[in-house]
Amino acid sequence: MHVDGRPVKSCTVFASDVAGSSVKTIEGMANADGSLGVIQQAFQDHHGLQCGFCTPGMVMSAAALLAETPKPTEQEVRHYLDGNICRCTGYHNIVKAVMAASGQDVSALAAE
Ligand code: FES
Repeated sequence: MHVDGRPVKSCTVFASDVAGSSVKTIEGMANADGSLGVIQQAFQDHHGLQCGFCTPGMVMSAAALLAETPKPTEQEVRHYLDGNICRCTGYHNIVKAVMAASGQDVSALAAE
């Protein structure tokens, strides 16, 4: 989740610690009409979706990265996401989705 615009691990933050702060969760990433936001749509389009535990963290971290670095390199994406652990994936499609969400051409990235 984001607290005052910064990504934090929700499982390590007490609700009382963020009283008065701006808190944004995965639900806040959708468009106002309820459709998928740009990053969520890119995860769907590029098969970056994993389970309900890790995917929200990946999406929220991706949003924070793209706010800081609008056109990240593959290595920058991998470095930024390294705090989000999933033992079920090779991360390739997640990285691809994040780069696509930034508007970059990902066709050169090998399919996985
Ligand atoms: S698919 Fe979510 S932890 Fe692996």
